[in-house]
Amino acid sequence: MSLAIVRWIAGPVLHAVKQGPFSLRESVRVGPQALLGEVVRIRDEEIVVQVYEDTAGLRPGTEVRGDGLPLSIRVGPGLLGRIFDGLLRPLSGTGSDHVQPGMRSGSAVRLQFEPRIAAGALLAPGAVIGSATGAEGRSQLCLTPPDVGGVVESVVAPGEFADDAVVCVVCQGDGRRRELALSHVWPVRVPRPVLRRLPAQTPLVTGQRILDCLFPVALGGKAAIPGGFGTGKTVLLEALAKGCNADVIVYLGCGERGNEMAGVLDEFPTLTDPRSGRPLMERTVIIANTSNMPVAAREASIYCAITVAEYFRDQGLHVALMADSTSRWAEALREVSGRFGELPGEGGYPAYLSSRLADFYERAARVETLAGSIGSVTVMGAISPPSGDFSEPVTSHTKRYVKAFWALDVKRAQARFYPAIHPLQSYAEDAGEFAPWWAAQGNGQWLALRRRFLTLLDEQAQLERMARIIGKDALPARQQLTLLCAELVNEAFLRQSAFSEIDRVCSPARQAAMMRLLGRFIDLAETALAAGVDPERIAGLACLRALQRMGEEVADDRLPLIAEFEARVGREFAQLAPTLEASDAAHG
Ligand SMILES: Nc1ncnc2c1ncn2[C@@H]1O[C@H](COP(=O)(O)OP(=O)(O)OP(=O)(O)O)[C@@H](O)[C@H]1O
Ligand SMILES: [Mg+2]
Repeated sequence: MSLAIVRWIAGPVLHAVKQGPFSLRESVRVGPQALLGEVVRIRDEEIVVQVYEDTAGLRPGTEVRGDGLPLSIRVGPGLLGRIFDGLLRPLSGTGSDHVQPGMRSGSAVRLQFEPRIAAGALLAPGAVIGSATGAEGRSQLCLTPPDVGGVVESVVAPGEFADDAVVCVVCQGDGRRRELALSHVWPVRVPRPVLRRLPAQTPLVTGQRILDCLFPVALGGKAAIPGGFGTGKTVLLEALAKGCNADVIVYLGCGERGNEMAGVLDEFPTLTDPRSGRPLMERTVIIANTSNMPVAAREASIYCAITVAEYFRDQGLHVALMADSTSRWAEALREVSGRFGELPGEGGYPAYLSSRLADFYERAARVETLAGSIGSVTVMGAISPPSGDFSEPVTSHTKRYVKAFWALDVKRAQARFYPAIHPLQSYAEDAGEFAPWWAAQGNGQWLALRRRFLTLLDEQAQLERMARIIGKDALPARQQLTLLCAELVNEAFLRQSAFSEIDRVCSPARQAAMMRLLGRFIDLAETALAAGVDPERIAGLACLRALQRMGEEVADDRLPLIAEFEARVGREFAQLAPTLEASDAAHG
């Protein structure tokens, strides 16, 4: 183990004189408390170390010892249901409320292990060794680490084991023996290997109508949520964590205020998973790195989080990673870079901001795992651009790597229109791929309806500008109707409260039914207009008010009610213009 002696210290950065060889990105232990750090630069005689823990009290002359490994974390079946700091050290379930200096990552829990292999078997990298069951009864696969393979020499009998206890010994091709535990250590900056990456095929169902229907993200895709102060980033990420159809949720609170994180920590353990009726926390890992924790650790925390997500993906699971917020992560990068004396680039961020963002987002994918199953990691990252300016570096660089862009709008948030996603500034590049999936959910018209809604919203923006100048009443009847229909789409479909018992998650079946019903209303309104009905009279229809409350009134398990709404819409239009009765009958 190589040694270096600290020469000078500046906050989270220290310079030490080498007494032996170190490698770049090697993890190190500093001083008697064994504080965790990483070698970020090597000069002739000196190494520069980024320290992930509080360096107060360190002095020149302190020893720095190399671990011989890149910065790594211990991943294993004990992670689910737990809360960790940015370096994956447990914050819950250890009997202590505090992370002690120099603590190692990992979960330190005991699990029931059931082997599925016998001595003499050939183990490929990523192959199943057995299953592990935690105290809550959830069973998970234990896999061979991606960098190990060989013939099984011995394996334990079923029983209870600590997650780092040896359960199996493998003799590798090169003759070396490797001891395998339920958990293993993996370097956080190295993507875990897969057999192959697969193209986007199905969307991640988020339960948010505006996202699923207008701006869907692929299972294994990446989405950015930029939004100014208080526009609803955290509430949206939490709603996604509670309502999306991923198997495992990794929630990363990165540099956010402690009270925001406290909300998540208090609330999550009380939530029930709508799919299984079991506590939601059982399939969640929370990584909390609040703004008062050491700044360098924040830089590492996003790689820890994505490594954890990849670990579960390798078991053939679909994982959703929510990161709140990547701007705070970028600020940490900027602060540490400043301490290194690096030349600042755009916005004061280091020149490698963009490539670091790419390293993170590129790890999101739908893949065929080494064991041959299909798994995915979908990444959703919040961005907090200063003054809500989307041209700043973090937002503009992130845009290059994500396929879905969910722009939160200050005006919508001020009007308390939630989720405040702006339908014209947001986009989803993969949307075209998902029409077959929606057709299978009973919405063959999805792509056409989506285009129609977006066109209406776009026309609305232009007409409102004109209406402000000449007055709404001066607009031609056709344009007044456009405004009416766009308003309906906004109020009845896009508005969705994260705090409503019935509406906070909307099933694809309900979304499809609501979308079709609104499409039907717009059809009838246009036919009525062509038959000479004044838009004022359409605006006066009682069913219009009812439609606007539909989301709050029709629960996922009461979809037949939507057919009643549809019948009512047909009746009221028939009263407006009797000729419509015939077309309605034809439709019915
Ligand atoms: N989907 C929603 N449904 C209902 N209310 C919402 C929704 N989104 C946001 N809000 C309201 O807006 C407030 C601010 O939201 P939130 O804390 O998520 O903003 P933020 O963008 O994370 O803020 P910050 O920039 O401080 O991190 C919430 O307390 C809530 O009252
Ligand atoms: Mg927030």
